[in-house]
Amino acid sequence: MAACSPKGTDRATVAPVAERAAGVIVRDADFTADFANLRFVRATVFIAEQNVPVDLEFDDRDPLCRHVLALEGTAPVGTGRLDVEYGGKVGRVAVIASRRRGGVGTAVMERLHEIARAHRLPMLWCHAQLTAAPFYERLGYRATGAVFDEAGIDHVRMECGLR
Ligand SMILES: CC(C)(COP(=O)(O)OP(=O)(O)OC[C@H]1O[C@@H](n2cnc3c(N)ncnc32)[C@H](O)[C@@H]1OP(=O)(O)O)[C@@H](O)C(=O)NCCC(=O)NCCS
Repeated sequence: MAACSPKGTDRATVAPVAERAAGVIVRDADFTADFANLRFVRATVFIAEQNVPVDLEFDDRDPLCRHVLALEGTAPVGTGRLDVEYGGKVGRVAVIASRRRGGVGTAVMERLHEIARAHRLPMLWCHAQLTAAPFYERLGYRATGAVFDEAGIDHVRMECGLR
């Protein structure tokens, strides 16, 4: 199985978020205390931009997952979640459009990977939107199945081993 690490590089050569996305910090989030910020990013990206139905976007796994939040000052710009109890499923990874391609998504994923390692998970997996597959591939994920529809969007299962 592929291991989670940036494609073609080692961790030391990947620019930290502070360098690539100046002023952005990534921290762990509490689903209740940080709900307004998490909702802002996910509603902006998934509901408004991608037309995902609101009742699908927020689900009963949310209170059980570990969440990560990227903040530019006090403004939420990115998020992602890890479902430790569901076999290490990564999901709801989103960056506000104006902050994309600046390393914020990678920083969110790296924090989720750290959390997974702390839980001694052997692997991570996700249902990646097909358009986001290159993003996950660069992080070491590989597609493991056929393309399928979820919330009207083409997805593929991807996974990587943790080391
Ligand atoms: C996918 C997403 C989270 C990536 O966030 P991001 O902050 O732009 O990602 P990064 O800047 O860390 O990208 C790292 C690398 O991934 C790859 N990548 C990222 N987005 C890509 C895209 N749209 N197409 C191709 N490659 C992409 C690139 O190699 C990029 O490095 P580069 O900018 O030096 O070329 C963001 O585009 C997003 O929120 N998309 C909409 C929601 C979504 O699809 N979420 C995934 C759900 S499964």
